[in-house]
Amino acid sequence: MSSIETVKPVVTTKPSTRQACISKQMIIPAKYAQMTADEISRQIQDKKQQFGDELVILAHHYQKSEIIPFADYVGDSLQLAKSAAANRAAKHIIFCGVHFMAETADMLTTADQKVYLPDAMAGCSMADMANLAQLERAWQLLEATYVEPVIPVTYINSTAEVKAFVGDHNGVIVTSSNAEMILKRVFAQHQRVLFLPDQHLGRNTAFQLGIPLAEMAIWNPKKDQLLPHDSNQDPQNLKVILWKGRCCVHQQYTVDQIAQLRQQIPDLKVIVHPECPIEVVQASDFYGSTKKIIDVVAASPAHTKWAIGTDNNLVNRMIRDLPDHDIVSIDPTAFSCITMNRIRLAHLLWTLEEIENGSTLQQITVDKATQISSLKALDRMLEM
Ligand code: 13P
Ligand code: SF4
Repeated sequence: MSSIETVKPVVTTKPSTRQACISKQMIIPAKYAQMTADEISRQIQDKKQQFGDELVILAHHYQKSEIIPFADYVGDSLQLAKSAAANRAAKHIIFCGVHFMAETADMLTTADQKVYLPDAMAGCSMADMANLAQLERAWQLLEATYVEPVIPVTYINSTAEVKAFVGDHNGVIVTSSNAEMILKRVFAQHQRVLFLPDQHLGRNTAFQLGIPLAEMAIWNPKKDQLLPHDSNQDPQNLKVILWKGRCCVHQQYTVDQIAQLRQQIPDLKVIVHPECPIEVVQASDFYGSTKKIIDVVAASPAHTKWAIGTDNNLVNRMIRDLPDHDIVSIDPTAFSCITMNRIRLAHLLWTLEEIENGSTLQQITVDKATQISSLKALDRMLEM
């Protein structure tokens, strides 16, 4: 195997949009803890009415069930990005989700529309596993290793700075709904990709497209090291370089849990999110984005028995909302996304009151240069 040289670190000094958001150190005022859930709900409803069409509330499927009834749109990452881009009437867009989603919405809306994240600490731990300085170092090494261009492909679960780098290097953004279609198109023209930050979505998608595991390797951003699947492998034979990132929620599901459930429940169908490890996806009957999971289960005949491997906030809502189907979680004790769960009704009311007072405390903004570069990668995705 030809060796991979160590590279000189590139120092990126500009604080990321994510760091800037965390540094606001927003603490929810104590008054909300004195209010009952009914009082908070009533006030949210009143404020929604007062704002009318000037306000839109978007919520990801993993949000707490208390948030969902107040959302104008509930969806997966792709649907929510599209509804943010399509809505030109709302001056204020409250994104009940995580930081990268609000950043993406800000990039896709006009300069006079403001996007708010109700809790600055609601970041995606997977997106935070790839920062610009790490990516620049990885890139230097890949450029030194390969003659042909490597195409960077980033999951939408990434920071604006990572998206901007990808946009500036002829790369593209994918979501869990379109990763397969987009990767297929990229491979029709190019021979090698760097997929970040989720190794599992990258591996599952590439494997589905017929790329063997032996042609994939892991990039460890903490050690600036490329780890091929097989230590004798020549890096020139690699097609997919997978960033060593993962989702703490989806990595909880295991093949053993699926095997046990299949023993207990005859004719069980299993569906999981592609952020799960490849063994789990291979042990399942179907996999797909949160939208696909909902659509496939809802469209199945009544009394189909399902085990679902994705965030339990969503699975529990599906159990409640689809009573004609026999649904269980692959692991009902698995924790839900900690950061998605930070947004409570009180945060929603607090955000509405801040907006009413003309405050921009919860506003998420992406600077112009980062936005222009990121939009190149986002537009390539939306065009495809
Ligand atoms: P989707 O809703 O796009 O499938 O993504 C899942 C997820 O983990 C979002 O952070
Ligand atoms: Fe990030 Fe996983 Fe939470 Fe989605 S579920 S926001 S990928 S940590």
